[in-house]
This record gives sequence, structure tokens and C-alpha cells, in this order.
Amino acid sequence: MSDHVDSILAQPARERVELLSRADRIFHVILAQQFSRTFIDEICMLAEMIRRIHTARQGADFLRQQLAHRRAMLYFIQPSTRTFLSFTSACQIMGIRHNEVRDPKTSSEVKGETEEDAVRVFSQYFDVIIMRHPAEGFVEKTAHMINEMQRTIPIINGGSGKDQHPTQALLDIYTLYQCFSGGSLVRRAAGVKADPFPGKKIAMVGDLKRGRTVRSLCYLLCRYPEVKIHFVSPPELAIGDDILEYLKEHNVAFESAQELDPLLPELDAVYMTRLQDEHDEAPGESAKLDYSNLYLTPQKLTRCKPTLAILHPLPRRQEIHPDCDADPRAKYWQQVQNGMWMRAALLAYVFNSEGRIKDYYLENYTY
Ligand code: NCD
Repeated sequence: MSDHVDSILAQPARERVELLSRADRIFHVILAQQFSRTFIDEICMLAEMIRRIHTARQGADFLRQQLAHRRAMLYFIQPSTRTFLSFTSACQIMGIRHNEVRDPKTSSEVKGETEEDAVRVFSQYFDVIIMRHPAEGFVEKTAHMINEMQRTIPIINGGSGKDQHPTQALLDIYTLYQCFSGGSLVRRAAGVKADPFPGKKIAMVGDLKRGRTVRSLCYLLCRYPEVKIHFVSPPELAIGDDILEYLKEHNVAFESAQELDPLLPELDAVYMTRLQDEHDEAPGESAKLDYSNLYLTPQKLTRCKPTLAILHPLPRRQEIHPDCDADPRAKYWQQVQNGMWMRAALLAYVFNSEGRIKDYYLENYTY
């Protein structure tokens, strides 16, 4: 890595965020702090439009033509099911052709090529690189490195270490929008319907210390200062102080607790997460941590609001009993599908084709 990139990475996130944009548009999608409220509203509306357009054969054909001249590399060297498949599905929806490297043993890295050089090589063939990497900050480093190349292409973060998962946060907020606004999201984004977020109480439950989805979602919720967040975890898995500081700076109300049951009746959304034991410093160290008191069961759901939204980035272990799945408040499968629409919207945005999609929508649909 060049000295220049190292000096950029030493700067505060506020300044680094600027370097990820071009002409006031997000260029590399790396950190959830990059997303303004206007951007979030627009991208959710675009996802919603794509979802509806795609239901008609003609609409699906229209979408597929939009980015048929573009090619994507999915460089996913950390396990992934949903993020990988939703990005490949999103590429298919938008007509983007894609290739993948999921195992560095099949690339020239075995001949001693660095990961950095592997990415530089991809940047010569493809128009966007979507990356998942086990090391915190590596995806961002790549974006600054690509900025120094003669041919610069966007980098999208599909999950970086314990740190961030910004596209998951976007699909999570899109799902919350749908749940809180009763489905009329385009109307809301067009200013026809009131903002459904003020006053909502959202609990984040589980391994909050090492869960990157929770961290990215907290950054995003700072654009909704009227919500209240309840962090519920055993003390060993508490959310990082850096996130709490950020919430304070943005005047977002929050509380921390170790029990979920007393909170249940007042919650509007609950975001469950699994134990992230792959990040254990000593193998097996978190096996002794038991948070089964925080698990959701059908019996506990009888004490919740009928409008509660139950989210989970998945994969789940025991934290949501499978018998909860049939409950209409379970939204985690909807979240899975929303990931595909949101990522299609992001690709459309990254390649500047959102204008054509909006025009098509407005010609063919009323809200
Ligand atoms: C999450 C991830 O990879 O961070 N999964 C996902 O992308 N939907 C959550 C997890 O692994 O627990």
C-alpha cells in the first residue's frame, strides 16, 4: 500500500468519506457514514421502483437493458450466502455480467501476488468490484488505492471484518420503512406521506460488539434522530463505545440493557443477531456466553405489539425460534429479498442510471 493511502487511512472518517465521493455523488460505497438522509430516502425509493417494475415482463426486460454493457467482479473471500447471492441476482436484474473469486487459492495469490495487486488486476477488466473481506478496513483501503490508478472504478463493500456492512444497513432500513409505513414507500419519498420513523423504538439484540450489521445500521439511524435505540446484550458483547459516541454526537436517544422481556411490549422493531464466534480471540472463548434469555419464542411474541417488525440479518442460530417464522411480524425473509432490490438500486445508482428508471416508473405507475 502506498504511503499516501496509509496517510489517508490515518485521517478521521469524516474526512475519508469525502474521498469516497466524486462531484457530490457517492462513488465508492464503503462506510454507512456516507449515506445522508436524502440519499437513503432516494435509494429506498429506487429499490421500491425496481421491485415493482420487475413484476411485469416488459419492466424486467427494460431493467435488464439498463446496464447490459457493464461488468462486475464479486471478490468474496469470506463466507457469504445472502450478500453474494443478492448481489449476483441484482446484477442479473440490471443486466450486468459478473464474475467471481471466492477462494484466493484459485487465483495468482498462490504465486505470491498480493491481494492489492489482485484488485488492481480486476480493475482493468471490470466496471465495479464488490468485495467481502475478513480484515477491518481492507475494503476501504482498496477504494483509496483504486483512486490512485489511471482507471478508477467503484468499490462496493459487501462486509468488512467486524467493522461495517453498509449495504446490509440499507436493506435493513428499507425493510423498516416498508414495515413502518405500511408499504407506501414511494408516496412517502415523494413527500405525500408523513415520515414514519419519529418516535419508533428499536431494540438491537445479541452480539453487538462484533456484529458489523448492527454497527452500520446505527450509523444509518443517526439520520433519524427521533428514534430510540435499545441495546440488549450480555455485558461481554456490548456495543462499542465508538458507536455510542457517534449516536450522542447525532442526538440519537439510546439505552443499554441486559434483559429483553421488560422491553417487549413497547418495541416497534427488534433486530436480532447471532453470536459472532468466528471473531473469538481464543477459539471457543464465547461458547461460555449464554444469552438464551434474549431469544425470541412464539410465547414471548404474545407480549409484543401487533405491528412489531422482527428483523435479523441472518444466518440465525437459536435466537429466533423457527416457530416464529409463520408470525406476520417476522420480516427476516422479506429482508432477504429486499437485499436483492436494494443492491439492484445501488448498482443503478453507481452507474448513474437511476434517472431512466424513475422516468420509466412515473410513466407506468402512479405512486
Ligand atoms: C451478516 C454478515 O455477514 O455480517 N450476514 C449477512 O450479510 N446477511 C450477519 C452475520 O454473519 O451474522
